[in-house]
Order: sequence, then structure tokens, then C-alpha cells
Amino acid sequence: MVEVDENGTPLKLESSSGTVSSAFDKILEKSSSLYKGNPDILRENYTPSRLLHRDKEIERVVEILAPALRGDTPSNIMIYGKIGTGKTAVITMVRRDMERRTNLPHPLSFVAVNCANVDTHYALLQTLGNSVSPDEESRIPTGWSLDRVYVAMRNLFDKKAGTIILVLDEIDKLVKRSGDNVLYTLSQINTELTRAKVGIIGISNDLKFTESIDARVRSRLNEEKVLFPPYDWTQLRDILRDRVQEVFASDVIEPGVVEKCAVYAAQENGDARRALALIRVAAQIAERTGSHGISEEHVHRAKANLETDIITACVKTLPVHCKILLWSIVSTTERRRLPLPTGDAYDGYAELCNRMGIAPLTTRSIYNYISEMETLGLIHTELLSRGRGGRYRQITIAVPAQETLIALEEDELLQPLSKQKVQNQRSLYHYDINR
Ligand SMILES: Nc1ncnc2c1ncn2[C@@H]1O[C@H](COP(=O)(O)OP(=O)(O)OP(=O)(O)O)[C@@H](O)[C@H]1O
Ligand SMILES: [Mg+2]
Repeated sequence: MVEVDENGTPLKLESSSGTVSSAFDKILEKSSSLYKGNPDILRENYTPSRLLHRDKEIERVVEILAPALRGDTPSNIMIYGKIGTGKTAVITMVRRDMERRTNLPHPLSFVAVNCANVDTHYALLQTLGNSVSPDEESRIPTGWSLDRVYVAMRNLFDKKAGTIILVLDEIDKLVKRSGDNVLYTLSQINTELTRAKVGIIGISNDLKFTESIDARVRSRLNEEKVLFPPYDWTQLRDILRDRVQEVFASDVIEPGVVEKCAVYAAQENGDARRALALIRVAAQIAERTGSHGISEEHVHRAKANLETDIITACVKTLPVHCKILLWSIVSTTERRRLPLPTGDAYDGYAELCNRMGIAPLTTRSIYNYISEMETLGLIHTELLSRGRGGRYRQITIAVPAQETLIALEEDELLQPLSKQKVQNQRSLYHYDINR
């Protein structure tokens, strides 16, 4: 007889291969403890006690912010650097150090906002104001006009008084979505404040970000620029070594493993987050397979897993017509093994739409999608000359075809395409769109 609890739920969940708990037991039996410290230390939101290879950048930021410790208004700063170059980590560390100082002649406070989550003019002013609000009643509610929110935020800053440093992380995302008006507003706020002074730290991983803002705003901001270069593989190796010794016992990591992670991450933008993710996932794979050490093979598998995750996450966010277009581009370039002219990409896309009973978008919209997909790193395009026949653009794919098609198939709308593909008994990933 099946044992049940008071709700009638069986105490042991049976599956065809035995109980669920015995499946858990098997995994637990296999998992050797690779960790001597908390594995979360390898996660990206952990700020380590020291940052290696960033002395110059830290010095520069400290130099610019130092006047704030004396009660003066510091210059605005714009920090640029590709992903995972330590921008957020450096600012977090500098901020912590400044906030720890209690014997300052004037009050100093920080307000940090990630503009990837707060991405409108209105929401940013409201969030900034509310971050310094002394109590619940003074908070800025939703529903006020933008002008009223601005005045309320300014009053809250004056109430707080002293130097307030606004850290606007991922500011390029906000400006891309909502324009640069909010930067204009913030850049002139000091002329209207009476008891507070505001300094702005903008952080962007778009190196051309300032080019995209109005010259008027740029001159108002008058910011000092600090560039964070990508890490090379030896720097990434040092960062990893420093971090892993807190997490793993000395003999757990096989020789060459840290170096392999560092080299892979250096090849992809010199991104420290990527290097940490590689070792973290490699450790998880090693643990799942009951291994007592982490080997280069585990790193290799971790790399493949992470690539699939990135593609899946990116593909999921695409609008459906963009997915159809990508399907057409990937399957055709895979079959032809040649770059694809954009005109052919459009034809292939339109053909698939017809077959799916959907009206295709205009060439103009599709060409916009092609640029967007290039920005996302899914494809590369190249402008070529046809001699007197003018110029044309051709596409190559920048991601593994198989993983991309699998990710696209997760969209129900695209599933008929994969069914037709199987019915045609063609090679799984060589779907012939010109059939
Ligand atoms: N010099 C360093 N020493 C130790 N750890 C570092 C260093 N640089 C970066 N890291 C770690 O790498 C991860 C990514 O760093 P961080 O978040 O600061 O990058 P970022 O430049 O802000 O990237 P993004 O542009 O994607 O926001 C974090 O876990 C951080 O602690
Ligand atoms: Mg960051």
C-alpha cells in the first residue's frame, strides 16, 4: 500500500527508475565535497576583499572623488569598459571606503541605481528621491507629473544635505531607451540646490556612449572619463587564483584549470565575470559526476553549457519575426556553408512566413532586425562591393548553429518549422528553406 500524508500526497514519489528521494540520495552519495569555503564567493554579486590589477583605475577614481571628503563638489565621472572589467566592483569598493569614514566635516552619502532596471526619466528621478527620503510620508508616490517629481526629488536632496554622489550604473541602457533628457536634468541640478551638492558617476559598457548624447548635455556634465581596459589572460588568472583559494581545498583544482578558464575568458572580451562563471560551472559539473577534482575537461563542458545558456537567453528575448529571420539565416548559412547576402536573407524569411501563414514584415523592418542581431552578437555583417553593380551586405552567423536552432524551437510558433524539417528527413539542422 502507498503511504500518504494527511493531504493524501504519497510520502514516496515513485518514478519509473525508483523513488525521487533515492535519486537525490544517489546524487548526494556521488557528490564529493569539493568546497572548503562558500561557493557563492564565485558568484558575480560577491565583492571580494581586494581587486587585483585595477590600482590605476582605483587611484584615478579616488583622486576625482577626494574633494567630496572635504565637503566640496566632486567632478562628475564617466566610467567606460566592456563587460566584466570590474567597473561596478571598483565603484562599490570605493563607495564602501568613503562611507566608512565617520569623521568627515560635511555629510556624504551615496545613492546607487542600476539603470537597466530603472529605465525612464520619471522612474529614475522618483527612485533617486526616494533613496534619500527620511521617512515613508516624504516618499514620492507614482502618478505625479514629471515636473512635480523633479521638485520633490530636489527638495529631498536638500533635506538630506551635504554631498550626494549618484551612481548611475549601466547608464547607457537608460539613455538608449529613454533619451538623454534625464542627464540634462541631473547635470544642472547643482544650480538649484541650496543645502546639497550632487556629483554623478555614470557607468557604461558602451564605449561610444557619450557620442550618443547631445553636445549640450555633454558639456553640462563636463565629466572626467576613466576607461577600464579588458583583462588579459594573466590578469584573469591572478583574479581567479585569488578567488578560488577561498573556495576550494588546494588539491581540488587540477593543474592548468585556472589558466584554461583565464584564457577562454580573455578570448571573450577579457571578462572576469566569465572567468568566474567558467570555474563555478566546471565545479558543479565535477561535483555532479562525483569527481574529486576539477579538470580541464570539466572547464570545456562548462564553456559549452554557458554558451548554450547565453544563446538561449538572448534568443528568447527576440520578437517573433526576428526569430523567423534568424531561423532562416542560420539554417541557410549552415546548408550553403557560405555567407548570406541580406537580400537572400529577406527572401528566405518571407518564404518561411508564407509557409507559416504569417504576413512578412517590410524589408526595412527586417534590415533593422539584422542590425539589432548584429549588436547582440548573434550575426556578423560585412559590406562588400559588386564593382559597378554597387554594394551589398552579407551575413555570417556568430553563434553555434545547432544551439541557436534548439533555442529557437522553444518558441511554439516556430515548432512547425522543426516538424517539417523532421518530416522531410533532412539532417536535423539543415532545413532547406528554398524547398
Ligand atoms: N580586479 C578584480 N579582482 C577581483 N575580482 C574582480 C575584478 N574585476 C572584476 N571582478 C569580479 O568579476 C565580476 C564582474 O565584475 P563587475 O561586475 O565589476 O564588472 P562590470 O565591469 O561592472 O561589468 P558589466 O559592464 O557587465 O556590469 C564580479 O564578481 C567582480 O567581483
Ligand atoms: Mg557592472
